[in-house]
Amino acid sequence: MFKNAVEKINKFYNIDMAQNPHADEVFEVLSEIISFDSAAIFYLSPNSLTLEFGKNFERFEDISIEDGLYSKIYKYNDDLSADFKQILDVESEIIIQRLLVKNTVFGVILLIRQDKFSNDERVIFKTCTSIISSLIKDMELSKVLKMQLQALQSGIIQTNKTCESIKEQNKKIKENEKLQNEFIANVSHELRTPLNSIIGFSELLSNNLSGELNPKQSEYVEDIRVASIRLLGMINEVLDISKIESHTVKLNYSEVDLNFLIVEVCNILKPLCDKKEVKIVQNIEKDVIFCGDYIKIQQVIFNILGNAVKFSPVGEDVNISVKTIADTIIIKIKDKGAGIEKKYHKKIFNKFFQVPDASSNKQASTGLGLSIAQEFVKLHDGIVEVNSEPNKGAEFIIKLPYHG
Ligand SMILES: Nc1ncnc2c1ncn2[C@@H]1O[C@H](COP(=O)(O)OP(=O)(O)O)[C@@H](O)[C@H]1O
Ligand SMILES: [Mg+2]
Repeated sequence: MFKNAVEKINKFYNIDMAQNPHADEVFEVLSEIISFDSAAIFYLSPNSLTLEFGKNFERFEDISIEDGLYSKIYKYNDDLSADFKQILDVESEIIIQRLLVKNTVFGVILLIRQDKFSNDERVIFKTCTSIISSLIKDMELSKVLKMQLQALQSGIIQTNKTCESIKEQNKKIKENEKLQNEFIANVSHELRTPLNSIIGFSELLSNNLSGELNPKQSEYVEDIRVASIRLLGMINEVLDISKIESHTVKLNYSEVDLNFLIVEVCNILKPLCDKKEVKIVQNIEKDVIFCGDYIKIQQVIFNILGNAVKFSPVGEDVNISVKTIADTIIIKIKDKGAGIEKKYHKKIFNKFFQVPDASSNKQASTGLGLSIAQEFVKLHDGIVEVNSEPNKGAEFIIKLPYHG
């Protein structure tokens, strides 16, 4: 009898594990060893047993289990057959085995038959169960692996799709940016030409070169000049930033005489200074000549000195000094205005940033001047720094390499 059982188990072992047999096959082979009417495999979850595989067994998809039975399932030597007879409401014989992986119960397998099961059959069933456990776990594992693989594949496809659409969008944004920058550059350029003649002719008028003006006329012409210079400054800033943004800024190197350059900037700013009764006091080392882009450096000085004049109280001096220390040119521009809180010292160099509530911001400003100045100085391998405290004025320091 026992010899017979061993033979049968050996036969069961012959199921090709590598083939990952389907549960139906498990029951098929099992039915050759032990005869039964119906069979089922239930998986255990916190509150229920779920029918996963069945042979001639479709009645119960889900069996909810109470705590008592739940703990019985975990206790290896408790006989579960009476409980299951009740749950499944069958008169027939039931033999049940727990499915285990590494001592953890994950389900039960049961066989149902009209006739009693012999001891021999019970032993065989018990032995087969351990093989079935590992077969099922293998199948589960491969299911999980398949699912993970699918998730990974769809994730990769999704990521690729997202990348493609981001690339497409970036391309469009770049094209738009290019068009926008070109448009700004064209418009600014077209605006500068007439503005330069307004400035030039109002200068002629105010110098009385075409006849004496009465005091009111002189005042009005001066107003036109000041407003046009401010407007030109803003247009230049917009033009510069659009070039910076489109990475089309190129340096045109020539000899830059700082003394001469600063005198020129002061001349441009003179109408603004006169209007505020601000004097620019110069303290400039002689013959500081270096190789750089004259127009860009002039723009830097214009932006920073222009700010100093703009943010100066009426009647106060603005100072500009130039000196060289070793191989560095140091340009300092200082005013006695409202100053800048420390928390804004970095931010003021950002595009469009203006210190909130600074009263002078309301007049002719774009918030671009300092970011352009910093960019142009960087292109010359220099830096711009700021020293300032509220109510103690502001000092901007430009450091440029000097090979003089
Ligand atoms: N000399 C200064 N004194 C006080 N605040 C200043 C000074 N220079 C710049 N700022 C602050 O930094 C901000 C940015 O300056 P800027 O980029 O030149 O823009 P804009 O002059 O067009 O406002 C100004 O709006 C102002 O708040
Ligand atoms: Mg400015």
